Amino acid sequence: MRVIVKDNYQEMSQEAARVVARQVLLKPDSVLGLATGKTPIGLYQGLVRMYELGVLDFSRVVTFNLDEYYRLPPEHPNSYHRYMQERLFEHVNIPEGNIHIPNGGAEDAEAEYKHYDEEIKRYGRIDLQVLGIGPNGHIGFNEPGTPWEITVGLVQLSETTRNREAPRFGGIENVPGRALTIGIKTIMHARKVLLLASGSEKADILSEALLNAPTPNIPASVLQLHPCLSVIADRAAGEKLVKKPTLKSFRTQEAIQEFELI
Ligand code: PGA
Repeated sequence: MRVIVKDNYQEMSQEAARVVARQVLLKPDSVLGLATGKTPIGLYQGLVRMYELGVLDFSRVVTFNLDEYYRLPPEHPNSYHRYMQERLFEHVNIPEGNIHIPNGGAEDAEAEYKHYDEEIKRYGRIDLQVLGIGPNGHIGFNEPGTPWEITVGLVQLSETTRNREAPRFGGIENVPGRALTIGIKTIMHARKVLLLASGSEKADILSEALLNAPTPNIPASVLQLHPCLSVIADRAAGEKLVKKPTLKSFRTQEAIQEFELI
């Protein structure tokens, strides 16, 4: 595990964009696993800038988004389809047919997630999976307690997550209760994982996830077991990692040895 703590959000995002750019430059037909939320906005801005400068070509890149609210059609203003269009897809040359996002408007959720799983498997595996972390430790919409063996599924959103999303939806009553998400098993099957964390709201959960023993109660903690994990945090989110590198599990020792503080 490699942990990099950058001074601020902008630097975190630039570093993340460099990691994704390196992936695409070295393997132009990379399969990228993409995340939504506030955290990766700067990463997408960085990728758009590199595309505009002619540094990056996305024409052979394939993308799979992590998740989508269930019963939210792609055209809904709060859908992750819209988010991705606005933040990335409208601005770079990823062919439409190479873009995959679970269809939150699907009538039959089970058919939809099985199909999504098959699509991922058609490409073998995800080359680089980008992740954010929820304040409760979720990755994708794998909430605390979600079994690790799910590949893609329909999951219940926690009250914590729904409350956090309430302002965007104009009240918790409008936040969907369920979501389609890539599960932990598919995330762990990715060749490389890039976990991003920004802001003091993430400081406690990030250190718990990385420094304590892995547990399904903190879904992100499973990432300690991934053979190729990079974590990039800004100083506010990485504060506890920097200040208190206590070793509580065998993986932690490895993490701290490779800890990079730039
Ligand atoms: P955020 O969300 O990037 O908006 O903080 C992360 C998450 O909930 O996974």
